[in-house]
Amino acid sequence: MPKKSLESAWDPESFRRNGHRLVDALAEHLHTTQQGNYPAYPGYEAEEMLQQWPDQFDAIGSNDFEDLVSRYLAGSTQLHSPNYLGHQVATPAPVFALAHLVSALTNQSGAVYEMSPSATAMEKHLVAWMASCLGFGPDADGFLVNGGAIGNLTSLLAARTAMRNSHSGLRLAILVSEQAHYCVARAAEILGLEHQAIVSVPADRSYRMDAGCLQSRKEMLEKNGFTVMAVAASACSTSTGTYDPLDAIADFCEKHGLWMHVDGAHGASAVLSAKYRGLVAGIERADSVVWDIHKMMLAPALATGVFFRRGAKALASLSQKAAYLLDDSSARFDGAQRSIECTRPALAVPTYLALHTLGTDVFGEFVTTMYDRARWFAGLLNNTENFKVAVPPESNIVCFRYAPLQDDSANNALQRHIRKTVLDDGKFYIVQTELNGTVYLRTTLMNPFSTEEVLQDLVARISNIGDQHLENRRHPGS
Ligand SMILES: Cc1ncc(COP(=O)(O)O)c(C=O)c1O
Repeated sequence: MPKKSLESAWDPESFRRNGHRLVDALAEHLHTTQQGNYPAYPGYEAEEMLQQWPDQFDAIGSNDFEDLVSRYLAGSTQLHSPNYLGHQVATPAPVFALAHLVSALTNQSGAVYEMSPSATAMEKHLVAWMASCLGFGPDADGFLVNGGAIGNLTSLLAARTAMRNSHSGLRLAILVSEQAHYCVARAAEILGLEHQAIVSVPADRSYRMDAGCLQSRKEMLEKNGFTVMAVAASACSTSTGTYDPLDAIADFCEKHGLWMHVDGAHGASAVLSAKYRGLVAGIERADSVVWDIHKMMLAPALATGVFFRRGAKALASLSQKAAYLLDDSSARFDGAQRSIECTRPALAVPTYLALHTLGTDVFGEFVTTMYDRARWFAGLLNNTENFKVAVPPESNIVCFRYAPLQDDSANNALQRHIRKTVLDDGKFYIVQTELNGTVYLRTTLMNPFSTEEVLQDLVARISNIGDQHLENRRHPGS
């Protein structure tokens, strides 16, 4: 390979040329994928994929950027395919991709205002808008971080600091929804809470936190020498997409002076939908809320809002000193004064630009459309022989099983077989979960192009796989 000059790495002309070609290729890929003309899942085992990408950087056979991108696209899980129905990862609106190009090239570091002047202003306005959507008042504040896991850690750090400031030397504990995302318990562990101080609150039959159990869990902890500092609710939970009863949890927290945290990574976007806003009634009473933009707001990973109802107090508890970087006079605008992360990309820029270019209404319309469709899908499943939904969906997550057998463990094995076969086919991408020992197929409707016809097609494919499997078991070798 001929050696290039150092400066050529920054050549504007090749950026322009390659950029135009790249956008053309991506637009073509988007078009093809959206038509469903591409497998939703490439279907290679991880080891096989590893072999396709040599570990020597001069051994790929071609150093052509376009070539590599086209191989990358072919080997990717296709989130724009109408047949993608898997995890809660957004089908990004292309305007976000353009905005990411802007933020990647300009590389504004959100650590301090001076390194990200316009990006900081955009973040302030975006955070204020999102906080008002949550129903928070003028005292609220927040910032953006890289993902829900970091958001939950940040919120619990603020909760712990608030508690420590008023009562030092206590053995602190936290009450967490049984169905909470694992990162909430992990955050508490990172903060140094003892294992037995992270207590799960049982869920009811719909997999939402049973708020009636909070009192007994708190008393049990106190009997063992702990002081409860916070309750972490899910809005909604990851597995089934059900919303914890936020108002009841807020009543409990207010009564006992506890910090109420809401992990709204997936479901806080319901505040944008006039039809579904009621699902998060009470979120405005939380002390902290985490809201992933990269789940239900059409944005690629990562951008998460962390919001505090009493902003000044919470942000002060997160503040740091660092003479080489941070200056008290700009504390209000320096992200590193409060974020666990120091350098952060200009996380607000894509969403700010998208809100301006698409308008705000499309985001609410998206939530309403996908939540409506999940309800329609559950109806289809319940009306199709041998299918059963785990719980009526509240969000756009639908868990169900194809269970024609009497024996439950055989039905569990069948769900695993169905999922594996679906992935081997590649046409659809779905995932699975386990609820109280029962295996379910799990779908999240992230793409408005996943129409009712697509869902009917999936149901037909699953029953076909299931029936074929049973037939093979009845007549092995036929
Ligand atoms: C409820 C909930 N909380 C937190 C997370 C973790 O968020 P992230 O993947 O953005 O770190 C997820 C991810 O699916 C989630 O569903």
